[in-house]
Amino acid sequence: MNGNTLKYSRITGTGSHLPPRRLSNADMVADLAQRGIETSDDWIVERTGIRARHFAAHGVTCSDMAVDAARHALEAAGRRPSDIDLIIVATSTPDMVFPSTACLVQQKLGAFGGAAFDVQAVCSGFVYALTVADSLIRTGAATRALVIGSEIFSRILDFDDRTTCVLFGDGAGAVVLEASERPGLLASELHADGRHVEILCVPGTVAGGKVTGNPLLRMDGQAVFRLAVNVLDSVARAVLAKAGKTEADIDWLVPHQANIRIMQGTARKLKLPLDKLIATVHEHGNTSAASVPLALDVAVRDGRIKPGHTVMLEGVGGGFTWGAVLLDL
Ligand code: UT7
Repeated sequence: MNGNTLKYSRITGTGSHLPPRRLSNADMVADLAQRGIETSDDWIVERTGIRARHFAAHGVTCSDMAVDAARHALEAAGRRPSDIDLIIVATSTPDMVFPSTACLVQQKLGAFGGAAFDVQAVCSGFVYALTVADSLIRTGAATRALVIGSEIFSRILDFDDRTTCVLFGDGAGAVVLEASERPGLLASELHADGRHVEILCVPGTVAGGKVTGNPLLRMDGQAVFRLAVNVLDSVARAVLAKAGKTEADIDWLVPHQANIRIMQGTARKLKLPLDKLIATVHEHGNTSAASVPLALDVAVRDGRIKPGHTVMLEGVGGGFTWGAVLLDL
């Protein structure tokens, strides 16, 4: 590629994968009742907006879902796997400790030789991965990237903990990001504050051939909520300022899909009408690093987000991490 003329990156295709098995809140209530855990559709809907989530079947892996999402994105972009020279997978639920899920995706797609690695920034993972891919494209180190968020949180949920197990789902979303003469990604901001590692974590690890520590997700929901509301507003404003834009320039807000109250609060603070907010949390639950690309793909495919629109993507989650990307589609 000619690094002097192709100095931007643009999204040229989106894709996603949702496991076929859909669990409504009623299904969750019934399943949890069998374990002696009490919850209700009313509580889940009122506190989160979630009405259903999808769980991957036994034997399906994070890379399987990532590959399906990637194939849809490639098709939308009119590209083949051999056109891709960079694969980044954002995930906290990889198939293996190593190699990376990105290498497994590369193997399954048959797109060999380019760079492939994972990004681990929990629910901010896709925004982090997109920013890394944009940087590699703009320096000329890569030309066409697959950037994927894929998560299988059903495998790390504690189904005896009603404060977390009703919130999450499985899925994957992907984009093809290509070198371009026209700006696509306009600006991005990434942040982390390691003082808050404990409010959302899976503290277990593999050591000496055994899992040591708790290998299941635990979260202080209220602490995450409080931080999320503040950082999502400030990071959106910082990205707008960096790009020389204002709130009025945003056609669509695609935030991390964890809680409709946080998402609507963010939109209100940005003075965006709620019909500019892309929300899939009611059907997907919180799919961590997959939530933003999944929501993006849904809105591109149903015709709301169109070429030329300006879109704000926002991630927030464990670490504590957060970030935003402003882009023209
Ligand atoms: O993906 C990374 C980003 N994550 C997030 O953004 C999540 C942020 N946090 C949240 O979305 C919310 O804090 C939650 C949805 C997790 C919780 O909502 P909340 O309004 O903060 O509820 P709470 O934790 O204050 O709990 C209120 C009550 C408690 O009962 P008491 O102590 O008031 O009697 C909980 O025990 O709700 C109870 N509760 C439940 N009741 C029925 C907690 N979970 C459930 C449940 N069903 N599943």
